[in-house]
Formats: sequence, structure tokens, C-alpha cells
Amino acid sequence: MMQEEVELLKIGFANRLYNMGLRIREFFSFIGTSWYIKLSLDFLLSYLFSSPYSIVMKEGPQTGISRDNLIYGETPLITMRDILKEAGVTKRDIFYDLGSGRGITVFLANLYFGIPAAGIEAVPTMADKSYKIKEKMGLKEAQFYQGDFLQADISLGTIFYIAGTTFDDETINKLKKKLSALKKGVKIITLSFPVESPYFKLIKKKKFKFSWGEAEVYFHERTKTPVIEL
Ligand SMILES: C[S@@+](CC[C@H](N)C(=O)[O-])C[C@H]1O[C@@H](n2cnc3c(N)ncnc32)[C@H](O)[C@@H]1O
Repeated sequence: MMQEEVELLKIGFANRLYNMGLRIREFFSFIGTSWYIKLSLDFLLSYLFSSPYSIVMKEGPQTGISRDNLIYGETPLITMRDILKEAGVTKRDIFYDLGSGRGITVFLANLYFGIPAAGIEAVPTMADKSYKIKEKMGLKEAQFYQGDFLQADISLGTIFYIAGTTFDDETINKLKKKLSALKKGVKIITLSFPVESPYFKLIKKKKFKFSWGEAEVYFHERTKTPVIEL
């Protein structure tokens, strides 16, 4: 076997071990809750015959959303719990995930932190499956909408999550403009990119664990007046 192939095998094995570690930590963190097994089973059954990756690849291009924005990846439940703890989420918060995929973060915010949570997802089947799961679980304060987050009314939200590692510049610029219209004190959490805008103050950045490895998460707050950058 060639040296290169051996290296690839080693990386693949290390990644499997790392992901197994994440799953085990997740299992022991949530097994005591009333919802973890139910949610995991619902996810398993909903995506038994088609993975979220294949659904987004198949349906995504028909939504008019650019290719870059449709590269699918997820935030593990355990990572979202750590991110929202770090953000200092409170019982008065209303959570939004812009581009919610399977809805993992929305379920976590609602079920673990007990706050109202909403997901906006462009790909119809993904939004539909999230909606069906939340109905099946009888969750009154979790909501899913199908559509383009750039067109959606997000004015009720107080804490936003955007896992837009691959989002193109045009979308990020439009998002910045949209987020600038939000009220003072609103929190914006982004994965892999900071929101560089005079209307947002970067509070901190920290690395968190994702299935592909560690990635930087940025925590911002909407300021009343533009921040002067020296
Ligand atoms: C990287 S995935 C993140 C999924 C989820 N937020 C998570 O962290 O587990 C990004 C998702 O955003 C969706 N998306 C991209 N552009 C969008 C848009 N303009 N409006 C709504 N959803 C969008 C994609 O279809 C994809 O499901």
C-alpha cells in the first residue's frame, strides 16, 4: 500500500474515533432527559432511506439558493448545548437558526433550554421533516418554516445561530444588512466567520467540536450605536 493511502486510512480511523467520542459524550449527557431517545429515534426513522446530505444535494438546486450555501454539515446536539451555554442563553430568549437543516439546534434550544425556538430552511423536505418531528413530539414552542431566511421575518428573535461556513459573500453581506435591523442586545452566533459590521460587537470567539473537527464560533451582540473600530 502506498504511503499516501496509509495516511488517508489513519486520518479516516482517527475521525471515526473522534466522532464516536462525541456520540458517547452526547449519549451520557442527554440519556437522563425525557426527550433524547425519542428525538434520536425520530431522526433515525425520518432519514432512514435518504440522508440529509443527499436530500439537500437533490432538492437544493431547485430552491434557487446558490451552490456554496447548500454544502451540508451539522452542529451536534452536545456542541449546540455548549455553544448556547457559552452565549449565556436565558429563559427570556427566543432562538432562531438561519438555515436549520435537520433542525438539531432548534430542538436542542427548545428541549434542553426550554426556550421558544424556530428554524428557517430552504430545502422543503428538510423543513417538512423537522415540522413533522416537532408535531409528533407535541412541541408547541418549536417552529419550522420553509423558505429563504433572507426573505423571512426574524424580528422576534433574540439569539441567532448561523452555521454558514460555506455561505457565499453575497449572502453574508445581505445577512449582515438584515441582522443590522434587529434590536439592541440581540445575540448573533456564527460558525467559522465573524460578522464584521459596525452594528455588532464581537464579544468572544471559541473553538467547539463538530463532526469534521474543531471550528471557531463567534459570539456577537447588537450594539445601540455603531461601534468605532480603531
Ligand atoms: C451547514 S447547514 C447547517 C444546518 C444547521 N444549522 C446545523 O447547524 O445543524 C446549512 C443549511 O442552510 C440551508 N440554507 C442555505 N441557504 C439558505 C437560505 N438562504 N435560506 C434558508 N436556508 C438556507 C441549507 O439548505 C442547509 O440545510
